Amino acid sequence: MEASTYNYKVVRQFAIMTVVWGIVGMLVGVIIASQLIWPELNFGIPWLTYGRLRPLHTNAVIFAFGGSGLFAASYYIAQRTCQVRLYAEKLASFTFWGWQAVIVSAAITLPMGLTSSKEYAELEWPIDILITLVWVAYAIVFFGTLVKRKTKYIYVSNWFFGAYIITIAMLHIVNNLEIPVTLFKSYSIYAGVQDAMVQWWYGHNAVGFFLTTAFLGMMYYFIPKQAARPIFSYRLSIVHFWSLNFIYMWAGPHHLQYTVLPDWVQSLGMVFSLMLLAPSWGGMMNGVMTLSGAWDKLRTDPILKFLVTSLAFYGMSTFEGPMMAIKTVNALSHYTEWTIGHVHSGALGWVAMITIGSMYYLIPRLFGREEMYSVKLITTHFWVATLGVVLYIAAMWIAGVSQGLDWRASNPDGTLTYTFAQVVKNMYPFYFVRLMGGLMFFSGMLIMAYNVWKTVSIGKVEEAQIPQAVHA
Ligand code: HEM
Ligand code: HEM
Repeated sequence: MEASTYNYKVVRQFAIMTVVWGIVGMLVGVIIASQLIWPELNFGIPWLTYGRLRPLHTNAVIFAFGGSGLFAASYYIAQRTCQVRLYAEKLASFTFWGWQAVIVSAAITLPMGLTSSKEYAELEWPIDILITLVWVAYAIVFFGTLVKRKTKYIYVSNWFFGAYIITIAMLHIVNNLEIPVTLFKSYSIYAGVQDAMVQWWYGHNAVGFFLTTAFLGMMYYFIPKQAARPIFSYRLSIVHFWSLNFIYMWAGPHHLQYTVLPDWVQSLGMVFSLMLLAPSWGGMMNGVMTLSGAWDKLRTDPILKFLVTSLAFYGMSTFEGPMMAIKTVNALSHYTEWTIGHVHSGALGWVAMITIGSMYYLIPRLFGREEMYSVKLITTHFWVATLGVVLYIAAMWIAGVSQGLDWRASNPDGTLTYTFAQVVKNMYPFYFVRLMGGLMFFSGMLIMAYNVWKTVSIGKVEEAQIPQAVHA
């Protein structure tokens, strides 16, 4: 009996936790955004200081919220497009509990101040080992499912997920090679400029493969599904896949412009970042053009609104990124709020929006429901989230550019026009607008949680049958 149904249990678990960790991670985002306006909000408690909560925010939104969404989507899509049940189901269950254990350990150790001090790789060595075990199990489940598939071809989404699983394994292991000195303290085996280079090879490709390639896997499945249209060009999706993944690997040095990194490496990073515009926009257009003949659906379908708007933000952030990688532009943007604006146009506009849209598609299906409890509430969520992102990023762009210009402004006698403290003070109005945007995005997540709760709590769960000959 089991063999004729898909394994939705693990997908359901990850999908629900996506919503839960989205709320937690964004709440911490709102708290640190408030602390930048009212520093006393740490109440003098070391656990609540900005320096400790900031990595908690980034880890929670990227790895807990984004990661759970990716596990859910990849397990669902692999089964549907291969028309088989998941391979090694006990291992799949281990990936769920193991990943949650990683998240909980992060949520305890980061506020305690235990960190390896590498951005997006802050977790200490015992947690790194657990991540490695979970990831190897993930690879076995995912690739095992592809191997036992009943379909002839491997659908393009799975290529994107496959590349992300392999690359993240490599990045995680290489960047976290460290010598433990106690249970909670280790030192990287790299030093100086090599350490910086390895860290940003990791950091950039964490963005490239975790926050981009993997979510493109989601995009290539859920957009055609929700629009009820085939992908605009399957051939373009394959060109997109190879060119994007090849070029991403070389762009990391754009995080280290004007540092002691050899000058030619910095230029190489800049040139590859500029080249990255082409595959990024090719992929975006492929997604957008998939709506040909179905544009009218956008008027009434809020899930499609989420999915298509996410592509618009993907296009925006992948245009902005290459521009920021140009050395002269980076001289202005680096260290400023502009970077934070860029990050969140990608993180909220692209990553969070595509995840939210995909979860709205998935959740009713995973629980055997016709649709979400309230379509109206999805529409409300869409508008508060979109306005929230716009407020957030517009505030940070204006703040960042004026901050950069203020820092370099000088008087005729060569002295600086503004003191550092004056420039900090100028940021307050923008921090406030960002907080409003963040609060709106966060309240959208609460609306989603209510809608999901109502959808899943009425009636019994129904398992989905594996079709005999039709496509997923
Ligand atoms: C309610 C929503 C959110 C709020 C209010 C928020 C707020 C913040 C704040 C205040 C910072 C620190 C900025 C600074 O140090 O100047 C930050 C950093 C960051 N956030 Fe968010 N955030 C939100 C959602 C997200 C999401 C969904 C993601 C990812 C999917 C994300 C990824 C990041 C990253 C990667 C950084 C570090 C950026 C860097 O170091 O350049 N955030 N966020
Ligand atoms: C063509 C694609 C992209 C290019 C070339 C690019 C380029 C850049 C550049 C030049 C920076 C500033 C580095 C600095 O001055 O420190 C940056 C920062 C960042 N970008 Fe992008 N970007 C791209 C797309 C994206 C997307 C889609 C996201 C998704 C969320 C993203 C997330 C980030 C993050 C998190 C940082 C901050 C890293 C840190 O300093 O902590 N980027 N990017």
